[in-house]
Amino acid sequence: ARAATRRHPHLLVGMMGSGKSTVGRGLAEALGYNFFDSDKLVEQAWGASVSEMFRADREQDFRNAEEDAIEWLCRLTHLVVATGGGAVIRHKNWDSMRHGITAWLDVPVDVLARRVVAVGCHSRPLLNTANDASEDAAYKKALARLTSIFNERCDMYRKSDVVVSLKEIA
Ligand code: S3P
Repeated sequence: ARAATRRHPHLLVGMMGSGKSTVGRGLAEALGYNFFDSDKLVEQAWGASVSEMFRADREQDFRNAEEDAIEWLCRLTHLVVATGGGAVIRHKNWDSMRHGITAWLDVPVDVLARRVVAVGCHSRPLLNTANDASEDAAYKKALARLTSIFNERCDMYRKSDVVVSLKEIA
């Protein structure tokens, strides 16, 4: 029933590299909604990049700030939000996201690994592949990391209202 009420925020969840920002921008344009990226909001609030925060061992500060950003965004209407890949691990985010529709962009991990290596992993602190000598080494490391992160989170992604399965366009 909620899906029919178009003014609710549309919240995209999924692993890093699943296309939340790209799909989110397109969806917002199609609906005539605004688009927000929760990572960007946190970066603006902190005056530091997400990578810098992770490097400074402040992942928990980042997760707390992400909760605040998502809570704030979920009170708005007529918008599409690209959440950070790890937003699903905090219960509070699910409480906030109940105000909207959650859609999971389900993309196979090998596709994710290929994409993140192609664009460079500098902005993906969890993958830690920036210093790998070859693209092949970076791909293998990214695939292993992404697989383990996905296995930890898949039950949470599955809680989304809508599953957008992008397997077939791999
Ligand atoms: C994270 C994903 C990133 C960013 C941070 C942590 C994660 O967002 O929030 O590096 O835990 O999966 P994207 O999914 O936009 O890359």
